[in-house]
Amino acid sequence: MEMNEGKTALICGGGQSLGEALSYRMAEAGYDVAVADINGENAKKTADQAAEKYGKKSLAIEADFTKENDVKRMIENVSAAFGKIDVMVYSAGIAKSNKIIDFQLKDWEKTIDVNLTGYFLCAKETAKVMIEQGSGSIIQINSKSGKVGSKHNTAYSASKFGGVGLTQSLALDLAEHNIRVNSIMPGNLLKSPMFQSLIPQYAKKLGIPESEVERVYTEKVPLKRGCTYDDIANAVLFYASDQASYMTGQSINVTGGQVMH
Ligand SMILES: NC(=O)c1ccc[n+]([C@@H]2O[C@H](COP(=O)([O-])OP(=O)(O)OC[C@H]3O[C@@H](n4cnc5c(N)ncnc54)[C@H](O)[C@@H]3O)[C@@H](O)[C@H]2O)c1
Repeated sequence: MEMNEGKTALICGGGQSLGEALSYRMAEAGYDVAVADINGENAKKTADQAAEKYGKKSLAIEADFTKENDVKRMIENVSAAFGKIDVMVYSAGIAKSNKIIDFQLKDWEKTIDVNLTGYFLCAKETAKVMIEQGSGSIIQINSKSGKVGSKHNTAYSASKFGGVGLTQSLALDLAEHNIRVNSIMPGNLLKSPMFQSLIPQYAKKLGIPESEVERVYTEKVPLKRGCTYDDIANAVLFYASDQASYMTGQSINVTGGQVMH
């Protein structure tokens, strides 16, 4: 897409799965891409492939988004390489599942750190650059669990609900600077490593064999299929674009109709 030539997208958590797919779709749409991840090797693989496949400039950065100094260094590196950040997508996230009475405090703390505090830090440092340039779009990958509670997923759901409040508040802080902030709430990405890793716990909580879990989760969706990386990329590209220029502070469901509020 011609219209994104010369624009820069920073994908936080772009080393694998959804973030990786988003990096490719942004590059395909014309953005130069900076791919950041705690797994530097994966970030490099994604960045190299985005450059190779779509002929865009790319940069890989290893950073832990829960560490303020890492995030500051990441933003300095992206600014030095590209001179601007038009879009920042926060896709990093972790999910640990357990019934509340067995849920470990360290798992709660880690989940809040990565899913919520990491988003806060990345948005904060990105906002400084976007304020300077007088424009920008920040997009958080949230979850349907940020709209409705999720059994055996207390920390994940709480961190994602927190993300909605953070998005709305960032939108208010940054509106005067022509910076829009939105969250995207995916349904279950059934084929993703994150969902697959939760299958044993989900089988236990539902009292069904592991082989039945994907079917049961598909049945819950009015459109009768799991969410795909492309479903989310379509929404991200729209919210990054000027076509969404009147939309900020929104939390948009991409759930096949599973969540409607
Ligand atoms: N997989 C699903 O079914 C699903 C459903 C709804 C929402 N989501 C959300 O989508 C986003 C992406 O999920 P995914 O399935 O691609 O997960 P994933 O675990 O496959 O990828 C997450 C990426 O974030 C990186 N990361 C984790 N902690 C980090 C940290 N401290 N600093 C820097 N990078 C870090 C990981 O290395 C990994 O590359 C998450 O926010 C998740 O909550 C996923």
